[in-house]
Amino acid sequence: MRKKIFAANWKMHKTRAEARAFLAAFLPALKPREGVEVVVFPPFTALAVMQEEAKGLAYGAQDAHWEDKGAFTGEVSMGMLVELGVKHVLIGHSERRQMFGETDEGCRKKIDAALGKGLAPMVCVGETLQERDSHGHFAKVAKQVRAAAEGLGEARAIAMSFAYEPIWAIGTGRNATEAQAQEMCAHVRKVLRECVGSVADRVPVLYGGSVKPENIGPIARQADVDGALVGGASLDAKGFAAIVANGAG
Ligand code: PGA
Repeated sequence: MRKKIFAANWKMHKTRAEARAFLAAFLPALKPREGVEVVVFPPFTALAVMQEEAKGLAYGAQDAHWEDKGAFTGEVSMGMLVELGVKHVLIGHSERRQMFGETDEGCRKKIDAALGKGLAPMVCVGETLQERDSHGHFAKVAKQVRAAAEGLGEARAIAMSFAYEPIWAIGTGRNATEAQAQEMCAHVRKVLRECVGSVADRVPVLYGGSVKPENIGPIARQADVDGALVGGASLDAKGFAAIVANGAG
């Protein structure tokens, strides 16, 4: 009933030549499956490589500004992404929230701008270890989901996806257990249902944080986990293809 999404977040990795080499190895290794979407989020500079050589593989940007144009040095607008064939945009990754001061309010402006341009926002949410240890993790994630989706309406909500990424699991080698992933992805969906109604049942909620070919199977089989957002392990073409195969299977 819900599609699964396996997404590669390359962060600030890969030159254009490296992106090309990835596609040359990844595309032949990828077996298309009904109901499974694969998306690559390269750095801005490699988006044009995707446009030229991704051969139908979906790709997106890791961020974009909410304004159409203006005096925002260093920023890129949603419309500029559309011109590069981009269909997806990551919003509110924890690295952007933690290192670049992104707020829930700013994320919402980006979500509205993305939807306005026909882009599919993938909104990242998740708690710190301290928040989990002090039992504040459900409240933290609920606040992020509400800020992203309150009053959005069914027609726009259906274009979205969420990625639950506990900050303590990102790049640490310590993934959430399948029970933790299931519990929080179900929570994201419950809060989303309060915001936008039953369309929430059709919105993919992914897990992210130290996903590898060896651990994705049990996580992706959970009822409310609809795929994965993968950082480090997505840089290797064969490894990411194995994550898609093991997670979709
Ligand atoms: P990781 O990163 O897979 O390297 O933990 C995930 C992410 O930040 O999206």
